[in-house]
Amino acid sequence: MKIGIVGSAMVAQILGKKLAELGHEIMISSRDVNKDKGYFPSALIWADQMKKEGFNAYAGSFSDAAQFGEVILNCTNGAHSIEALEKAGEQYLSNKILIDIANPLDFSRDVVSLTVSNTDSLGERIQRRFPKSRVIKALNTVNAEIMVNPHLLDGSHDLFICGNDAEAKKWVREELLQNCLGWEYIIDLGDIKASRMQEMYLPLWVRLYDIFNSAHFNIHVVRKSNVD
Ligand SMILES: NC(=O)c1ccc[n+]([C@@H]2O[C@H](COP(=O)([O-])OP(=O)(O)OC[C@H]3O[C@@H](n4cnc5c(N)ncnc54)[C@H](OP(=O)(O)O)[C@@H]3O)[C@@H](O)[C@H]2O)c1
Repeated sequence: MKIGIVGSAMVAQILGKKLAELGHEIMISSRDVNKDKGYFPSALIWADQMKKEGFNAYAGSFSDAAQFGEVILNCTNGAHSIEALEKAGEQYLSNKILIDIANPLDFSRDVVSLTVSNTDSLGERIQRRFPKSRVIKALNTVNAEIMVNPHLLDGSHDLFICGNDAEAKKWVREELLQNCLGWEYIIDLGDIKASRMQEMYLPLWVRLYDIFNSAHFNIHVVRKSNVD
């Protein structure tokens, strides 16, 4: 399958590599494919390296990736995701599954907060702005290395998913999360409004990261064994 990734930093490169290793064709994207991503190389260098390793991987503009992908992943900075997806082009996102992995984090204050929360969320804003896209929120609550390898952690731990389109959600859950990435425990939180809850977990995630000094953790919801 052709997967277009809007974004080209840590999540785009780690998820893109894993999906390419599984046989998918991947295009990551950037406003400037030559620009380094801090600890990660530029989109163009990533794609060249992947090609040398024998994978079908490409780099382009946000719009190139949206045109390329049969399924689209939003891996952009959540505070700027709407403008990034607008650059990608509404016409190329329409009628496609759009998996929103982004978090609208705001690090400008002493304690991390969200640019949208409580009565709205980034996932909902994306669904409203791109009504013909089938927006599914998933993977935003774990570090990229855990996204592609949940077995890196000991024991059972949970991933959350939500979205309005039941068929799209089933595809993301079964094909992408379970079959491709190996997730066993996935909790469906309902329609896209549950993006609020998935995103509002992030301030706690950031605090746990500070305390553990590691991003390799996740949460597990423990229930009484005789409940449905
Ligand atoms: N890192 C993780 O392990 C992790 C885990 C879960 C969720 N997430 C979420 O996944 C998303 C991606 O995270 P990340 O760590 O890979 O990278 P990031 O630094 O949060 O985002 C990088 C991407 O955002 C784009 N971007 C930044 N400002 C923009 C603007 N003004 N207009 C358009 N695009 C803009 C960049 O485009 P250019 O390439 O053009 O610069 C780049 O591709 C974030 O929302 C993050 O919260 C991250």
